[in-house]
Amino acid sequence: MAETVQTPSGSDVETAIAVLDEAGRTYGGSSVAVEALKPTNLTVARGDLVAVMGPSGSGKSTLLHVLGCLDRPTTGRYLLDGRDVSHFADRELAAVRNNTIGFVFQRFHLLRDETAQRNVELPLLYAGIARPERRKRAAEALASVGLAERVTHYPGKLSGGEQQRVALARALVKRPALLLADEPTGNLDTAAGHRVLEIIEEENRGGTTVILITHDPEVSARARRRLTMRDGVLTEET
Ligand SMILES: Nc1ncnc2c1ncn2[C@@H]1O[C@H](COP(=O)(O)OP(=O)(O)OP(=O)(O)O)[C@@H](O)[C@H]1O
Ligand SMILES: [Mg+2]
Repeated sequence: MAETVQTPSGSDVETAIAVLDEAGRTYGGSSVAVEALKPTNLTVARGDLVAVMGPSGSGKSTLLHVLGCLDRPTTGRYLLDGRDVSHFADRELAAVRNNTIGFVFQRFHLLRDETAQRNVELPLLYAGIARPERRKRAAEALASVGLAERVTHYPGKLSGGEQQRVALARALVKRPALLLADEPTGNLDTAAGHRVLEIIEEENRGGTTVILITHDPEVSARARRRLTMRDGVLTEET
């Protein structure tokens, strides 16, 4: 059964990693405005594994972009790790992203002209971490996704599944509290998709909160919490 997600309140909110409080997102001007995310309430507990499903165009990516500080809500509030980030300036949002969030996209978004190693080092570079430490941590992150042998490869020389694991290593290299993944297995075959999912689940067992978008019922079945988006309205399976 699906029901509307409850208004955030009480101690759950204080300990949550992410809280949407009537947060909504409208795109475009007043004449052609698209209310991609209707005012939404959501409280995500630390350590949770949440799957979001729903038809194309229903607002799933919009939701994830707000949760990932890639975008601001145009109405309501977003509390991330106890801080209201709804009105943060771009620079502040970028800092929050770098410190708290790992983001994985369906189409990998790797830099073509940089090796796997350099791609994974980038978040550490932005964080001002010195080169020897960067190299060490990026190599460890690549090893943890099973790509120790591919550090000098360029994305174009890697399979889709390998590219997505590089993207995962990049998202995880700073040990984010919150990992967001927008259809991370959408462009992969079954075996490669399973591998990526296993890495995400392993990370979740280590304490990282995970919110992922998926069209795959098998993937969503493995989540602890299942949300559905329809026409910008979020409901929860109970
Ligand atoms: N930058 C934008 N400007 C204007 N409208 C947008 C923008 N991004 C998304 N939209 C619109 O908002 C609605 C929700 O889009 P969104 O990308 O969140 O859907 P989705 O559920 O992720 O779809 P898909 O499964 O195809 O990825 C769509 O109608 C889309 O056209
Ligand atoms: Mg989308």
